[in-house]
Amino acid sequence: MRALVTGCAGFIGSHLTESLLADGHEVLGVDCFNDNYDRRRKLTNLAVARDFDGFEFVPVDLARGDLRELVDECGVVFHLAAEPGVRSSWGTRFETYLRNNVLATQCVLEAVRPTPDKRVVYASSSSVYGHAETLPTREDALPCPFSPYGVTKLAAEHLCRLYTGNHGVETVSLRFFTVYGPRQRPDMAFNRFCRAALRREPLTVFGDGEQTRDFTYVDDIVSAVRAAALAPAAAGGVYNVGGGSRVSVNDALRLLAGFAGGALDVRYVPTEHGDVRHTGADTSRARADLGYAPRHMFADGLRAEFDWMREADAAARRLGRASGAPMEATG
Ligand code: NAD
Ligand code: UGA
Repeated sequence: MRALVTGCAGFIGSHLTESLLADGHEVLGVDCFNDNYDRRRKLTNLAVARDFDGFEFVPVDLARGDLRELVDECGVVFHLAAEPGVRSSWGTRFETYLRNNVLATQCVLEAVRPTPDKRVVYASSSSVYGHAETLPTREDALPCPFSPYGVTKLAAEHLCRLYTGNHGVETVSLRFFTVYGPRQRPDMAFNRFCRAALRREPLTVFGDGEQTRDFTYVDDIVSAVRAAALAPAAAGGVYNVGGGSRVSVNDALRLLAGFAGGALDVRYVPTEHGDVRHTGADTSRARADLGYAPRHMFADGLRAEFDWMREADAAARRLGRASGAPMEATG
């Protein structure tokens, strides 16, 4: 199979790309290296993929051009490219969210429209739920985003749905719940916490730390994404992809203190706008249709991210890019 992976240089896209390549598939990877974090980190994310003959990279901004040729070459489209991040979606940055999340998705769907049986797996988000009334939350709960980012992810999900309804495009939307693991984005909690713990630097918690997330290890996300490309029952569907348990930020910090071998310097500041209190995924539907079951225990996954950060941080220091340099946040 030749797969188109959009956002292949990102955190989740690079893991998906490597997984497909390792199983002998070809990947046509697309990314525009947008400015949400350092381009060099995204290039580093692609280091393993570049060693495979089956990998081809095309630097394309999805919101710009006609994507027909790229789509025509591939049997399936994994659409992961987006402007991610809940807390930075306010103010003038919103225009970028609209462009990279809504317009880019419409461009992908238009490109697939002439060949509607080509499946599009879209990376949606738990942020579509906002402050969910019921936990764990099922897919038929009324979506009510609490951040501008969530609005754009939901809008793109609606685009997928209406291209299915109008044109028969085989879309599958997967609502990922806070993904973590090696290469996690540098704006995300565990990337920041691991780095601070390793360096014995202060770290910041937004709110009282008792908020919970259904943190999902990145390899589990990759399994769900790959299953969604193949499962017959998934066409046109929307699925939660969660990690299997809710963990508070404070509980995660207690684990990290153990990994770091000492107390952390935690500074509590007010909750950020757009942050929800709790998330929790009811994954019954994904289990039934995709055969999805999270396999990674939270403590093991956090340890894997911590170990990755230690190695990445050491490598950056060896290269002389210590504190203050652009690569110092080695995520
Ligand atoms: P990421 O920023 O690491 O990766 C996204 C990639 O998309 C980046 O490399 C970026 O350069 C690229 N991109 C953005 N706009 C583009 C455009 N117009 N054209 C081409 N490339 C473009 O983010 P991530 O955390 O890996 O997220 C991947 C996807 O999963 C996103 O759709 C995100 O909304 C979704 N998601 C992520 C999480 C999470 O916890 N990380 C949770 C829910 C949903
Ligand atoms: C994450 C991703 O960033 C979004 O792209 C994604 O769409 C979303 O999950 C989702 O599940 O839909 P978030 O849950 O905010 O968003 O993930 P983290 O950045 O890891 O934050 C987790 C919690 O830690 C939040 O309550 C946040 O406020 C808190 N946090 C984060 C801190 O207390 N301090 C920090 O330095 C960073």
